[in-house]
Amino acid sequence: MTKRLGGRSVSDIGLGTWGMGGWQTADKTNDSTCVDAIRYAVSRGINVIDTAEMYGAGHTEEIVAKAIEGVPREDVFIISKVWKTNLHLDSLIKSARASLRRLKTPYLDLYLIHWPNPSVPVSETIGAMEELLKQGLVRSIGVSNFDVEQLSDAMSASKYTDIAANQILYNYGTRGPEKDIIPFCEKNGVEVISYTPILKGKVSGFSELNKVAEKYNATAVQVALRYTMERSLPIPKSSSKSHIDMLIEGSRMELRKDDYEFLKSCLD
Ligand SMILES: NC(=O)c1ccc[n+]([C@@H]2O[C@H](COP(=O)([O-])OP(=O)(O)OC[C@H]3O[C@@H](n4cnc5c(N)ncnc54)[C@H](OP(=O)(O)O)[C@@H]3O)[C@@H](O)[C@H]2O)c1
Repeated sequence: MTKRLGGRSVSDIGLGTWGMGGWQTADKTNDSTCVDAIRYAVSRGINVIDTAEMYGAGHTEEIVAKAIEGVPREDVFIISKVWKTNLHLDSLIKSARASLRRLKTPYLDLYLIHWPNPSVPVSETIGAMEELLKQGLVRSIGVSNFDVEQLSDAMSASKYTDIAANQILYNYGTRGPEKDIIPFCEKNGVEVISYTPILKGKVSGFSELNKVAEKYNATAVQVALRYTMERSLPIPKSSSKSHIDMLIEGSRMELRKDDYEFLKSCLD
C-alpha cells in the first residue's frame, strides 16, 4: 500500500520525531540513538519524516538532517511546521528559511501551519506559504490541528495551490475526527495525516484491540496503527529499531474488513 501526499507517492506510514532531541528545548543526550532510528526507518522504506521548528527548539530538525545525510533528497519526503507565533508574512518566511538551514535541504516537501492562530488572518499566512512555493522552497503546503471551518477558510485563502494535508490527532481512542474533519478532508482531496496514532503505545485499555491482535498474532499497538491507516497516513514516533520493525510489520497487516468493522463498532 502506498499513499499520495503533496502529489507524490509515499510510504503508507511516516516517522514522527517529537521528543527526539528534546521537547520545548534542545536535549543532545540521545542524538546518536535518534539519528540511528531515523536512518534505520528510512533504510526500511519509511520515507515520510515529520518534524517541526518547535521540536527541541529546532534541534530535532538538525537530527533529521544528520540522519538523511547521504540519502538522495528525492528518496525522502520531509514535513516541517511553522509555529503559531510565526504566522505573519515576514516571520513565516524567516521560520521556513531557518528550518531549511537546520535540515540542510533546499526545499521541504510539505510545510504545515502547526496550529491555527485566530489573531493572524489565515489569508496572510497562506499567502506567505504560497510565496515559499513560488520560490521553490516548499513543494506543497498544508495545515495541522484545523477544524472544518478553519480548513475551509484556509482552502478559500489559497490561490495558486491546494491545501495538501491536515495533520490531526487521530487514533483508536480519539475517534471524533471520523465524524466531521476526516469526511470533509476526504471530500476535498486533503490528505489526513494522523499524529499520536498509537496512543503513545498505551493501548491496554482497549480489550478489543487485543482480541483482534490475537487473531493476527500481532500486538494491540500494531492493530491500533493499522486501524488509523484505513483513513489516514499515520506518523508514529519511535527511537527504537525493534519498535520500528513492529510498526512496519503492523502497517503491512491485512486487516480484514469484518475485523475493521468490529473495531469500529466497539467505539460507536
Ligand atoms: N501536529 C501536531 O500538533 C502534533 C502533535 C503531536 C505529535 N505530532 C507528530 O506525530 C508524531 C507521533 O505522535 P506522538 O509522538 O505524540 O505519539 P505516538 O506516535 O502515538 O507514540 C510514540 C510513543 O510510542 C512508543 N512506541 C513506538 N513504537 C512502539 C511499539 N511498536 N510498541 C510500543 N510502543 C511504541 C514510542 O517509544 P519509543 O521511541 O521508545 O519506541 C513513543 O514513546 C510525533 O512524533 C510528531 O512528529 C504532531
